[in-house]
Amino acid sequence: MSKKLFIETLGCAMNVRDSEHMIAELNAHEGYELTSDASEADLIMINTCSVREKPVHKLFSELGVFNRLKKEGAKIGVTGCTASHLGKEIIKKAPYVNFVLGARNVSKITDVIHRDKAVEIDIDYDESQFAFKDFRTSGHKAYINISIGCDKQCTFCIVPKTRGEEISIPSDLIVAEAAKAAQNGVKEIFLLGQNVNNYGRRFSGEHDKVNFTELLRRVSAVEGVERIRFTSPHPLHMDDEFIEEFAKNPKICKSMHMPLQSGSTEILKAMKRGYSKEWFLNRVEKLRAMVPDVSISTDIIVAFPGESDEDFEHTMDVVRKVRFEQVFSFKYSPRPLTEAESFTNIIDSEIGSERLNTLQAYHDSILDDLKVTNLGKVVEVYFEELRNDGYVAGRSDNNIMIKVKGSEELLGQIVKVKITEVSRMVQYGEILA
Ligand code: SAH
Ligand code: F3S
Repeated sequence: MSKKLFIETLGCAMNVRDSEHMIAELNAHEGYELTSDASEADLIMINTCSVREKPVHKLFSELGVFNRLKKEGAKIGVTGCTASHLGKEIIKKAPYVNFVLGARNVSKITDVIHRDKAVEIDIDYDESQFAFKDFRTSGHKAYINISIGCDKQCTFCIVPKTRGEEISIPSDLIVAEAAKAAQNGVKEIFLLGQNVNNYGRRFSGEHDKVNFTELLRRVSAVEGVERIRFTSPHPLHMDDEFIEEFAKNPKICKSMHMPLQSGSTEILKAMKRGYSKEWFLNRVEKLRAMVPDVSISTDIIVAFPGESDEDFEHTMDVVRKVRFEQVFSFKYSPRPLTEAESFTNIIDSEIGSERLNTLQAYHDSILDDLKVTNLGKVVEVYFEELRNDGYVAGRSDNNIMIKVKGSEELLGQIVKVKITEVSRMVQYGEILA
């Protein structure tokens, strides 16, 4: 009988891809098969996130649960960003954990499972050219890493301390991965990095000059690739050349993530984001002028240390002006190893919650307006998921989630759909013949 692997993945798309890499390595070299039942697994892993404090607290209670339900002799491993930053502390606090494997060390997975109490968390480790075995959760969408780590030093963010310095993955490896996915019938490529439009600043070996815009051109030239998405670009690096390529390349999906963080230039300075409110609005204006139906999503942090009512009002002002299609908003959470951890002008937690509520309620009202404008529109949907309620779900080019009544023949197809019913997060539609 094969050995069984249970893996829980928290956090961002990069973690999802890291999990796929570990599953592939464990399957190819150690014969593990996936299970969704932790109690029958021989190996239980949690691929963690450390961007905010809450999930880190949750980790130890979850580990306790897994320890109680695991079968005799099963191993437990902690991987990902919290593994990087807590390292051997994890084994001190939860001595039944068998190994700790940091983000950016995932290629060592087949080694650490054999070394009890192994802790591998080197954030300088370079696996940018490692040839991972192949495994994909979805047969329709392929995540491809284009860089690892992050060179920015945003003062609130722990990622540079858990994923290390930025290294770009050689472009020929990325193109080869896209080609392989396309040969397997995947139509949508999702390029991943903490700061994708910084691509090409540093490679670990010799490499010709390729920036993100050029990489987009190369990936879009791959036969069989019909859609390209990417996350996350940094507003600072959204130069005209990049926006123009985004606008005119028909394979690039017209949805852009533009992490604002704050609308106040003063707070942006304290966050070391490198752009001002005006620059952000200017980039949005250029983008909307060139791509009128673009949908823009964002990340916003409220109650960063020192954020006054006036600063918060600047954030609301940007939200009112841009009318983002999607907002991921968070209350500031102090993180170890970051510069902002030592900032003293902390904002009262209740004020933070109030600001978060104000922002989210306002954004809900934007969504209520936007959904009405979608009614009756005809969009091209790439169907990816069969739901058990008789619906098939997919996304429009500009990232609206659309459900139609249908069966699995629709999966993997790009089809014209008329939107007939709308709600805040999901739209329903009918297929046009
Ligand atoms: N470059 C990555 C950022 C990863 S963190 C990206 O753009 O996807 C994802 C989001 O978490 C950030 O954009 C930020 O809005 C939020 N975040 C990061 N650190 C945080 C902190 N200390 N407190 C609250 N939110 C934070
Ligand atoms: Fe974090 Fe800023 Fe990089 S948010 S991941 S340090 S771009």
